[in-house]
Amino acid sequence: MSSVPPTLIHSTLAKQLEAEGAFVYLDLAAEARKKGIDVISFGIGQPDFKPPEEVLTAIKDAIDQGHIGYISSLGLPELRAKVAEYLNEKYNTDVKPEEVAITVGAKSAIFMAINLLTRPGDEVIVPDPGFPAYECTVRFAGGRPVFLCLKEEDEFRMTPERVEECLTKNIKCILVNTPHNPTGSVLKKEDVEGLLEIAKRENLAIISDEIYEDFVYEGKHHSFLSMPEWRDYVIYISGFSKTWALTGLRIGIMVAREEVIKKVGVMAINIYSCPPVPFQYGALKALELGLDWFKDIKEEFKRRRDAACDELNKIPGVKALRMPGTFYLFPNVKDLVSKLGYKSVKDLAKAILFEAGVALLPGTAFPLHGGDGFMRLSYVLPVDKIREGLHRVREWVESK
Ligand SMILES: Cc1ncc(COP(=O)(O)O)c(C=O)c1O
Repeated sequence: MSSVPPTLIHSTLAKQLEAEGAFVYLDLAAEARKKGIDVISFGIGQPDFKPPEEVLTAIKDAIDQGHIGYISSLGLPELRAKVAEYLNEKYNTDVKPEEVAITVGAKSAIFMAINLLTRPGDEVIVPDPGFPAYECTVRFAGGRPVFLCLKEEDEFRMTPERVEECLTKNIKCILVNTPHNPTGSVLKKEDVEGLLEIAKRENLAIISDEIYEDFVYEGKHHSFLSMPEWRDYVIYISGFSKTWALTGLRIGIMVAREEVIKKVGVMAINIYSCPPVPFQYGALKALELGLDWFKDIKEEFKRRRDAACDELNKIPGVKALRMPGTFYLFPNVKDLVSKLGYKSVKDLAKAILFEAGVALLPGTAFPLHGGDGFMRLSYVLPVDKIREGLHRVREWVESK
């Protein structure tokens, strides 16, 4: 018998997988707290408000009523029907219940959509900076991510012009995220129309991650579902993590034509059987309530965005655009990095954490080069904390 245990990870694809960079910095913030540093964290992408009480009661009632067994892998039929009705009203479209899958968070929907669409060698356009799971999952599926560098001069939008510059004959899919993590950009109507035109002309699919759809402070969110031809080209993804502040419940939504959703049902059976059932009852209640209660939350987030933007722009060497969506800002700190003589934005983030007690994420955590020279700030804390945190950074910079 060999004394060396067998290798338990043989998959070369799995070896390429990387953890989300953001979590590395959250661990660092925890380390700083352990050292006694009172950290103000702008790190996490998790809303700080509570969902409506009725949603939580619906979950408890579902458990009390014994809704704890397996159900269809695509989710509760009444929730699928409600999602279709809700989206049809919101986006003036024609989604059918059979075209809806309830998933384990938006993340599993992203994973399944990319895996359904990508064969080894296929290329997928992904935003850079962008949500790390896109790149990671494309590679895991054997595909090749083609990075579209979002530019500050385009307000970080994935415009049709930039997509045209990236097209190759192997591209099968464009991954769009609007409103966009980590920059806070929101696509304009003409961007959405232009991207769909490209998809039609080049026969490409669009995966549209719209999980921040309700966090738009200027103008409005333009969903790909509002396009009459969405069914031919689009896989729409959203969920209950952000608008309803239910990140830990893991309930996501995918909308696509029925043939795709049927396959998602088969994938889901083989991965997780079905999304957590009591939480789906909570999601159903959330949609029944509608979004009236969210108006105040949105106003508060707008005040936070403005406070964060104003305070950031007072810091020497920092330039922050007033981004219209999400709860993130993506300030340019290139001058600050060079003024203070740091090698990278990562080193600057570490110094701000351990010396000023403020957690900001380096733009390169998302996950490539597009974020070099930028930082992501998540404004999921009250205005006075935002001001205090950024004041600390300013004093720290001025003391240097
Ligand atoms: C762009 C984007 N998509 C998807 C997700 C994941 O959402 P969920 O919690 O529903 O898996 C996040 C979470 O941060 C996100 O920022």
